[in-house]
Amino acid sequence: VRPQAAQLYQVHLCTVETFLAPRPAYFTKNWEKVQAFQARPDDIVIVTYPKSGTTWVCYILDLLYFGCSQERDASLYLHERVPFLELAIPVLTLPQVVYVGRNPKDNAVSYFHFDRMNSLQPEPGDWNSFFHRFLDGNMVFGSWYDHVSGWWEKKQSYSNLLYLFYEDLVEVWVLMLLPGWGPNTGGVEKVHFDSMKNNPMTNGSTDHILDLSVSPFMRKGKTLVGDWKNHFTVAQNEVFEEHYLLKMKNSTVAFRTAL
Ligand code: A3P
Repeated sequence: VRPQAAQLYQVHLCTVETFLAPRPAYFTKNWEKVQAFQARPDDIVIVTYPKSGTTWVCYILDLLYFGCSQERDASLYLHERVPFLELAIPVLTLPQVVYVGRNPKDNAVSYFHFDRMNSLQPEPGDWNSFFHRFLDGNMVFGSWYDHVSGWWEKKQSYSNLLYLFYEDLVEVWVLMLLPGWGPNTGGVEKVHFDSMKNNPMTNGSTDHILDLSVSPFMRKGKTLVGDWKNHFTVAQNEVFEEHYLLKMKNSTVAFRTAL
C-alpha cells in the first residue's frame, strides 16, 4: 500500500530486457503487486546497477527530503525508509528518477566482493571467472553496459531524470568535508563513508543475508575510486579496454576510473 506522501524508492531495473535479466526470487515473488504499483509524480526513484553507490545516495536523499532528526535516524533502517521496489517502468506514472552510475572496473570489483558475502547472490567463483562473467553481462540484474547506456539514453528524452556519477559524488564529498566548506547542517558528516560504516541503520550489520566477516558491506573507504587497480591484472585490463570500446561504441556516456 503506497503512502499518502511522496516517497523515495530504490530499484535496479534496466531500461531494456526488463523481464529477461536474472534477479533474486525475493524481487519477483510479489511481481504482480509490483506491476500494479503506481508511483506519484513527486515520488523519487533511485535507479542503479548493483554496487554503484545506491546506499550512499539513498541516505543523502533521505536526509535531504526528510531531515536529520535523531529520532527518525535511530529508529528506521535505511532499507525501510527507502524501500526496494523493482518497478515495471512501462506502467509507471513517471516519477522523478535519480540514476547513479559507477565506473565499470570499480563496480565489478565491488560486485565481486558483494557476491562473496551475500548468501542470496550466486557464488562469484574466483576473480578471473567473475571478471569474464561481468564482461558477458551474465549477472543478477543483467549487463552493466546495457544498464548505464540504457538509462543514459532515457535521460535524453526524459527531463525528470538526473544522471549522477559515483566518482563525481566522491569528488564533491572530499571538498564538502574540508574545513570551512559545505553546508553546516550536521547531515554532511552522517553520509561520510566512515559514519555510514559505523551506523547500524546503513552498514548491513543486522542483515542476516550478509556475512560481514567475509567482506564488509561498507567495504572500502580510502580507495573509493580506483580500487580496481588492486584486482585487475595488466592482461585483464587490456581485455577490458578492448571489450569496453566495442560494447559502448554507440553510447556517449563516459566514466572516470581514476580521480
Ligand atoms: P566498495 O565495495 O567499492 O567499497 P551499493 O550501495 O549500490 O551496494 O554500493 C556499494 C558501494 O558504495 C561500496 O563500494 C560502498 O563502499 C560504497 N559506499 C557506500 N557508502 C559510501 C559513502 N558514504 N561514500 C562513498 N562510498 C560509499
